[in-house]
Amino acid sequence: MTEVVVVDSPDSASSLAAELILSKVRTKPALRLGVATGATPVSLYRRMAVLAKQFGIDLGELQAYALDEYVGLEPGSPQSFRHFLEEHFIEVLGLDSNCLVVPSGDVGTIATAGDHFEKAIRDTGGIDCQILGIGSNGHIGFNEPGSSLGSRTRVKTLTENTRRDNAAYFSQPEDVPVHCISQGIGTILEARALVMLAFGDKKAEAVASAVEGPISASCPASAIQLHPHATVILDEGAASRLEQLRYYKFVWENKPDWQSWRLS
Ligand code: PGA
Repeated sequence: MTEVVVVDSPDSASSLAAELILSKVRTKPALRLGVATGATPVSLYRRMAVLAKQFGIDLGELQAYALDEYVGLEPGSPQSFRHFLEEHFIEVLGLDSNCLVVPSGDVGTIATAGDHFEKAIRDTGGIDCQILGIGSNGHIGFNEPGSSLGSRTRVKTLTENTRRDNAAYFSQPEDVPVHCISQGIGTILEARALVMLAFGDKKAEAVASAVEGPISASCPASAIQLHPHATVILDEGAASRLEQLRYYKFVWENKPDWQSWRLS
């Protein structure tokens, strides 16, 4: 069963996810962390910075791999996911930007960019822990509905729904690129652990399909049910459409290894 944890607020969820990830860094300082963009993980990265300092956890050996990138933006564009991760992850955690690998959205090299990125992951031994958000249409990374559950890093065409959701980051909606490069669902499933975060009612339906629906390309996030170590951390809003909500809460309250998540 996918592990579902429901807490009272996005801040509590971010704190819990930060503890989970930092406890992995304690065990393995050169952790290879898959990092996500979007509004959801921003407070997680801030919380990781605070807790790493408080508990004296050295992040100097951490390596990070992005999930996705837009295709065709100018190098250094403030809307690029590389820029986003430099600002919200690298700077916040005081890391060296060389530790971050992002799939290249450069049009000139796009034909080989997916293979190049997959090789970078393989060459360092694979991702230990992948952070995931979820789109309101059920996407993970930029794997839109209909994506192959076995897909690898490749170019995708964004849906209208996703382009609308992301329009706030651009000066006008038409500026949102049509194409992206994204880790595939098969790539994501190879990470040794998955940690998905979702906040707010807007995500409730996608979360319910992902966790309780059939495994289907119509909801790419439902592929996490195939993973043996997937944890989904939700606030009450994002959890509000789950049929087995009471059971998940009961499981969590009685979790035997809960203390292994805590930093002390
Ligand atoms: P959000 O995006 O964190 O901005 O809601 C999540 C996603 O689209 O995967």
